[in-house]
Amino acid sequence: MSETESTAPQVFRDIAPLQQHLQEVRREGRKIALVPTMGALHEGHLALVRKALEVAEEVVVTIFVNPTQFGPSEDLASYPRNEEADLQALGKLGKFTIFIPAAEEMYPADFSTFIDEAKLSKGLCGVSRPQFFRGVLTIVGKLFNIVHPDVAVFGQKDAQQAAVIQKMVRDLHFGVEILTHPTVREEDGLAMSSRNQYLSNAQREEARALSKSLFKAKQMVEEGVCSTDRVIAEVTHLLSQHRRVRLIYAQIVDSETLEARREIVPGKSLFALAAWVDQVRLIDNIQL
Ligand code: PAF
Repeated sequence: MSETESTAPQVFRDIAPLQQHLQEVRREGRKIALVPTMGALHEGHLALVRKALEVAEEVVVTIFVNPTQFGPSEDLASYPRNEEADLQALGKLGKFTIFIPAAEEMYPADFSTFIDEAKLSKGLCGVSRPQFFRGVLTIVGKLFNIVHPDVAVFGQKDAQQAAVIQKMVRDLHFGVEILTHPTVREEDGLAMSSRNQYLSNAQREEARALSKSLFKAKQMVEEGVCSTDRVIAEVTHLLSQHRRVRLIYAQIVDSETLEARREIVPGKSLFALAAWVDQVRLIDNIQL
């Protein structure tokens, strides 16, 4: 189908009919890919969906702003929601099974079981958002058990999230293949994120500094710098010149274990950072 045509998606809001539909899909021997999202879809999400379409005959996209991954002072209430635009964007890409549950469908009043990863999830974003990965793993684990996908696709923009999910799959034998897709960026380098919508023009301008500083880090490594301290000092210096930007963390870690590295190993080290641009929290990373 050309991307200019549009097709009505099949939308499920309850778990039971979705599972009935997927049972039929499995009986027909069709491979299932899952793309979990919180909606407010942008090109980064659509790239995940396209990747899913390449590897499976049935693609399930979920849209659910998951309350358990937000802290008490975070943006759950104001998180961008636009179901109509999301369905339209997906309709242009192909035919999907879409799951848009209400919060009560996923978390009934007596819900009391959570998934907690005790190592990879505790550094980087886990320090400033202690509830985040527990919420992510719980909802992703639930979605895996509801959908039973063969494959699930996540963005490399959330590198720690992808690594922590991969670890959960291994530790708990979920039997789902995890695929990642490279970060999709705006023309000026800013990593695409639903939260970019919060930025004013002035903040948007300052937010460019994040990716620019990561590109600088990569350039330094390509020029032979292997000292983590030197690269981080340069990035910190670059970001400190932007008055609206306040760094939360900037770290160089092993790409798989997420453990801190003193020496950069090209191809195996990840530079990850999080920063406030005024009141908007953004993350970005680059493989060094
Ligand atoms: O990356 C996201 O949008 C969310 O963390 C996810 C994986 C959909 C879980 O709510």
